[in-house]
Amino acid sequence: MSLDRHEHDTENVDHGDVLNSPNYFGNVLSATMNRREVMRGGLSAAVAASFAGSALSACGGDGPGSGAVVGTKNVARSKDDRVVIPSDYSAYVLFATGDLLNAAGADKELDAITGTEMASRAGDHHDGMYFFGLSAAGALDKNSNDRGVIAINFENINQQFLHANGPTADASGNRTVADEVVKEINAHGVGLIEVKKNAGKFEVVSGSALSRRITPETEAKFAGPVAGSKWVKTKHSTDGLTSRGTLNNCAYGYTPWGTYLTCEENWAGYFDNASDATPGVEYSRYGISKGQKGSYRWATAGSDDRFARWQLNTVGADASADYRNEANTFGWVVEIDPINAAATPVKRTTFGRMAHECAYPSIITAGKKFAFYQGDDARFEYVYKFVPNKAWDASDANGGVSAGDKYLNDGVLYVAKYNADGTGTWIPLVAGTGALTAANGFADQAEVLVKTRAAADAAGATKMDRPEWCSVDHTTGDVYITLTNNTSRTATQVDAANPRANNTFGHIMRMREAGNDPAATSFTWTIFVFGSPSTNAASNLSELTADNDFASPDGLWNDPRGLMWIQTDNGHTNDMGKLCNNQMLVTIPPSSFEVKPVIKRFLVGPSECEITGIDMTPDGKTMFMNIQHPGEETKAADVNTPANYTSAWPYDRSDATKAGTKVSRPRSATLVITKKDGGVIGF
Ligand code: FEO
Ligand code: CA
Ligand code: CA
Repeated sequence: MSLDRHEHDTENVDHGDVLNSPNYFGNVLSATMNRREVMRGGLSAAVAASFAGSALSACGGDGPGSGAVVGTKNVARSKDDRVVIPSDYSAYVLFATGDLLNAAGADKELDAITGTEMASRAGDHHDGMYFFGLSAAGALDKNSNDRGVIAINFENINQQFLHANGPTADASGNRTVADEVVKEINAHGVGLIEVKKNAGKFEVVSGSALSRRITPETEAKFAGPVAGSKWVKTKHSTDGLTSRGTLNNCAYGYTPWGTYLTCEENWAGYFDNASDATPGVEYSRYGISKGQKGSYRWATAGSDDRFARWQLNTVGADASADYRNEANTFGWVVEIDPINAAATPVKRTTFGRMAHECAYPSIITAGKKFAFYQGDDARFEYVYKFVPNKAWDASDANGGVSAGDKYLNDGVLYVAKYNADGTGTWIPLVAGTGALTAANGFADQAEVLVKTRAAADAAGATKMDRPEWCSVDHTTGDVYITLTNNTSRTATQVDAANPRANNTFGHIMRMREAGNDPAATSFTWTIFVFGSPSTNAASNLSELTADNDFASPDGLWNDPRGLMWIQTDNGHTNDMGKLCNNQMLVTIPPSSFEVKPVIKRFLVGPSECEITGIDMTPDGKTMFMNIQHPGEETKAADVNTPANYTSAWPYDRSDATKAGTKVSRPRSATLVITKKDGGVIGF
């Protein structure tokens, strides 16, 4: 979101002694290999067999040198205001910001939609998403290729384009048009949108009973140790068992019992805090300061509770009389049943509270424990995993949020510590153990979870370069994490896992659990690739070229066939941003930590967009992916002068690769990408 999009403006990268680091991919000790190598060795053969005759070629394979090559044509860098994909692929818009959930296409310009109407339309800033396949009878079906519900996060807004003349405020910045604020609120949250193939193309289903929105106003309930605790008691929920809605939903996760996990990221910036009191660490450690004003000033739109809740000031006799605790109701992982509107979204507090990027599942094996990997996206924050206490029972498949009650309310939250020798440990964050004592400010597990960042500080975890998405290669179990950038890291703060001072271009980390056990408490790790423009020799540690250079990796997905998709959220004006809009690349991770991946550029987005969110149908023939916030830097003063928009994409919904004359306001959108010959994507 906007809080982290503008941090990429410097290019003076000091790579220090990276090439001598034992953790650089070329130098990792073979001693860190484990039995997974053997399994991975079989993968290439398995993939090749599945797609016999494909263009997958083993170029170096598992030996020294370079990894296998994905069989797609490489696309060149682009600064065009359009989507660029290989010539043998096509891309069309499935739905875009402001579209009705039950009808294809745009019926109204963005500014003509009312605040209330926005609650039943696609929101803004499409982000993490997951395709839940449906059978003809409407039940969850993991094998469905032609019908499903897309669960999708609407992270934030291009505020200027939502209103006729941009946002309206008085001289003090107070919001004066309540409906504008209602609209902004309703453009956030989550969508559940039924889609179906018709005459070979996916479209939103007219009149679907499954399509619905969850907004920051939708009732949610708390579960786990924080439920009912003093931290989340508010005027809305005096018993601390419920809260309203979900906000700034960034990355995602999913469960083997058929539910969606949405993750609340940069919620802290939405609140006004006129309180005279110095905030406790449950606020200060998340960036909430005394006197702060929310980025959109929702709190100022009137006395109605919908607006008052965004003001953290102490005005009542106790917490049940005001919204002093409202910010504690965000920062969580929220579980949603994609096909049961009667199931209330559940805030699973066991995952911890942070600028939550994701909660991505490990390989899940019947009878064994499993894990969800999580990043906390802020400078010098941490990587976490949550391990439920119960092993997976396959009879719980499609069990919905009641299965979530079984697995997600009790388990262990761990934070990662990366050692310089390529090993690492998962430190449990459990009240009463280690430094997490009452004397240190952690009276119980609810307090540990509300103050997750402070607990991780006390545990001595490794401070990372803005952990964004985690992904797990389900063909191997290896875990990948994008560390998008950190321009605040100084030369004295570098470590093996974050080896670049002023890390403008970011890197991707790879981890392997001991024994390939998701519940293990130790792991090995390496740096998979460093971002950099190839034109900057000093920062180009991974020897990227004009064909595959990128910066600020963010979205990340290892698809079920073993291909890894890398999505970027790079600043638009740094050395990489000057060369290329944000993009998506693809690679096949080599089995060995010592082998260099061969990366290809698959897609470049329109001007000032971010690429984020991806899924595929099980046959590998349909990809869903998102273009977020094209034209985001357009000035509010220019919203009625289309020629001045920095982007007006999409120009032609049937062909996302077309540019055109700027007429309409730009929209975030979910694309469908297919191969023109109907074949398998990436091969
Ligand atoms: Fe919403 Fe950290 O990206
Ligand atoms: Ca992100
Ligand atoms: Ca980002």
